[in-house]
Parts: sequence; C-alpha cells; structure tokens
Amino acid sequence: MNKVFRENAPTYAIVEKFFGKTKAVYTIQPENIKTVLSTNFTHFHRPRTMPNALDPVMGQGVFTSNGEAWAHSRGLVRAQFSSKRVRNVAKLEGHVQNMWEAMGEALQDGWTEEQEILLIYNRFTLDAATEFMFGTSAESHEVAMREKTKDRSAESIVRSWVRKLIVPEDFGTAFDTALDYVALRLKLGRLWFMADGVEFRLACYKVRSYCDNYIRRAVAHAEAAKETAHTATFDPGFVEDRRFGLISELVHSYPDKVALRNQVMQLLVAGRDTTAASLCWTMILLDAHPEVFTRLRVAIEKDFGTEAHPLAPVTFENLKSCTYLQWVIFEVLRLYPTGPLNARKATIDTVLPVGGGADGKNPIAIRAGSTVVFNTYLMHRWEELWGPDSWEFKPERWEDRKTGWEYIPFFGGPQTCLGQQHALTEMAYVITRFLQRYDNITSSTRQTNRENGIRTILVPKRTVLFRFHKRTS
Ligand code: HEM
Repeated sequence: MNKVFRENAPTYAIVEKFFGKTKAVYTIQPENIKTVLSTNFTHFHRPRTMPNALDPVMGQGVFTSNGEAWAHSRGLVRAQFSSKRVRNVAKLEGHVQNMWEAMGEALQDGWTEEQEILLIYNRFTLDAATEFMFGTSAESHEVAMREKTKDRSAESIVRSWVRKLIVPEDFGTAFDTALDYVALRLKLGRLWFMADGVEFRLACYKVRSYCDNYIRRAVAHAEAAKETAHTATFDPGFVEDRRFGLISELVHSYPDKVALRNQVMQLLVAGRDTTAASLCWTMILLDAHPEVFTRLRVAIEKDFGTEAHPLAPVTFENLKSCTYLQWVIFEVLRLYPTGPLNARKATIDTVLPVGGGADGKNPIAIRAGSTVVFNTYLMHRWEELWGPDSWEFKPERWEDRKTGWEYIPFFGGPQTCLGQQHALTEMAYVITRFLQRYDNITSSTRQTNRENGIRTILVPKRTVLFRFHKRTS
C-alpha cells in the first residue's frame, strides 16, 4: 500500500483545523467507491471545478454535467454506441496503414527508427475517433508527415488546399494545445482561471470551427433529406459519411448546434487520449517484460498469423476470443488506469459503509459539501485485494479471476464509461496488428518509461521512445 494510506488507513478523513469539520475523505476501499458511484449515486455530484476548467473547449455535456442534464445527455449519446458500430473494426485498418507509413520502413538491421510512441498513438486514436464521429478522419498522421517532409509538389499543394476547404485548420495540433491548457486548469483546481490566454482561446476557436464545419454539413443534409426524400442527390460526399459518422445521428437529437458541438467535443476528449495512453502503457510493459511479449506474440501468431502470412481475419469476435491478449489488456488497465484519482462532492449529508470508528470498520459520515476522493491507481495495486505481487505486471493473474468493484478502469454504476467496449476493441486491434508486424521491441528510454505523469489523465511523465523489429516472415 502507498505510504500515505499506510500511515493513515484505507479510508481516512482530512479535518479542518479550527472547526473540526470534515473537508475530504480519501479512500481505496471498493465498498466505499461502490457507494459513491452506484448505491448512493444520487448523493454525489462531479465537483464544479471540472466543468469550469473544461468549459472553453467542450462546454456542458455528458462528461461534465450532473443531475438531470447529465441523464438527458447520457441517454442521447448512449443510443449511438450500438454494438454494430463497436464491431466494425475493419474501419481501423486504414488508420493502421497510415501509422505504418508514419513510422517508416525498417532500416537495414530490421529495426525501425526511434518512434515517439505516445504521439503516434495519439494521432492514430484522433484519426479513428474523428472518423467515428464525423465519418471523415482528421488525418493527423498525414498532416504530420507533410509537415516533416515539407512536400511542395503540385499534387500536395492542391490536396492541402482542398483539405483547407473542408478542414479549417490543423485540428490535431489545436486539439493538443487546448487539452494541454485543460490539464493545467484541472491541476490548478480552484485557480483554474489562471491558465488562460490568446494561445488557449485560439486553439479552442480552431477546434470549435472544425466541429462546426461538420455540424453544418450534417444539419444541411438532415434538412435537405426532410424536404426532398431523395438524399442521394444532395452532397454525395456526405451521404457516404452519413453511413458511419455518429454526428449524423446525433444531429436529430440536438436542435441546438452549440449543445451538439459540446457533446461531440466531449466524446472526442473522452475517447482519444485515454485509449492512446493505454496503448502506450501496454508497449512500455511489454518492453519491460520480454516473457509476456513472447507469450503474447505466440498467442497472436497462433490465432491470427503474421502480417505476411495471415491465418484469420482480425475481427471483433476473434480479438475477444484471444484469451492472453485480453488478459494483457486487463492487466495494463489495472496498473495504469487512465483516471487514477477521482472525486465526487456530497450533495446531502450521507455515509460511506466503512472507514469510521477506531478500527475503521464502521460507517463514516460525509457532510453535504465535502469531497470523497477515491484513488483507483492505489486500489488496483492494494495487496489486500490483489495479493503480495500486486505491483507486478502479471497477465496470468486474470486466469479464472472474476472482478467486482476492486477493478474499475472504466468506473461502474450509472456513469460507467460509455466507450468501454469501443476502447477495449481498439486496443486489442492495434496490439494485434503491431505484433503481427513486429517481433521485437526495444527502448532507449526504458529507465524512465514507467514514471507517472498527469496530463488530463495518467500518462508517462517523459518522452517514451521505441524501436520495433520487423518480422522477416
Ligand atoms: C482505455 C480507454 C478508456 C478508459 C480507461 C476510459 C475510462 C473512463 C472513466 C474512468 C470514465 C468515468 C469518468 C468520470 O465519471 O469522472 C469514463 C467516462 C466516459 N467515457 Fe471513457 N474511457 C476510455 C475510452 C473511451 C472511449 C473510446 C469513449 C468514446 C468513444 C469514451 C466515452 C466516455 C464517456 C461518454 C464517458 C462519460 C460517461 C458518463 O458520464 O455518463 N471513453 N471513461
């Protein structure tokens, strides 16, 4: 257990010096977390600082609202997370191919050049998420490659102009800048307003214009479809998008365009960095544990074959039935849950089931207005719940293991992550395609790869660099 919890208790209160009032209760006990997120869900709200910090980027929506506004948003968004959409993994392959291109061919010794892997995954997940949302990808890998090579050919210039007509600015860069500020605002807590300025506002403006562009098309298309019933004659490009883009469905539920844009932004933010960071942690752990890397490589070879000699298609069903791959993902999310530290504010006087009394086994009182902070990171590593090897990376622990509230990388209860299946599938797909293509991994930054940093989520503190060895057969 971590020093602070060891010196206090698995649940402990921070009390005001003069009035003796409880300010906050810290806990890693599953029964308390279950009470906050599920059993007594209505007694708690997300703290106000979170929506304030995020407001210029994404306003109000499912991720930042409380009460009825949240329930309304969640209902609308949930309807779009159909299993058909989640199962459509074939759409990821184009983004994988762009990723290979961005990473470059292997050198003569069979190894790729050094890759800044979090950046690569961030671009991959942004491209996949924008396609999921708008039916058209932000193509951030392509933009980055163009910047790198400064391709000035006539074709490239024409393409870049066509792009500018569709996409107002380089969305990826603006999105990253906006989120860097958001991370700082979240860190500043009540002083969130100190992190502001022209750069931030400009990035927010660019990101909003990007979304607005697609929303305009979706609205125009929906209106034209109502009038003519002959959709195929109106904006044929969009008819193609419409088949996949979530926005073309959401447009019917949101007459207010700003509310729709906020919702779309919230989904992009919720889904982009989380999945990319989890993939990055996966590679870090595989690099640090060659025995797991080898076992996973063999399992993937057996089920799917290699890139040059595929045995079976990489489908949703095949990914789910590759047991060792699933264990690896569960274990990565246990050690590195993207939301390591979370809080809820009590809206009424209430209780948590354990943590009170001399032995901590009695209920503990929570006053209205005080905060319950739950530490998922430490709960996922608590020896009492996971055994003496709880800090070790051991996918094998998942054999026959059933979990409850001691394992909540996606939380649980009414606010459980809506993109859980989406994220698990995307992770499984990317890991599989990596190990079909590469048979070894090495890192010049190994010494520091496992240092934790917090952006809006848990990410490696320092740059993570990898080289991958291309299979010869
Ligand atoms: C490995 C990847 C992911 C992890 C670990 C993760 C984790 C989480 C967690 C812990 C929450 C609860 C946050 C809170 O209430 O404070 C959450 C909420 C949410 N997630 Fe995810 N997420 C992931 C990927 C995604 C993806 C890909 C999407 C969408 C495409 C998504 C959509 C959402 C939404 C909409 C919510 C808000 C649910 C609500 O408040 O009702 N997530 N996620």
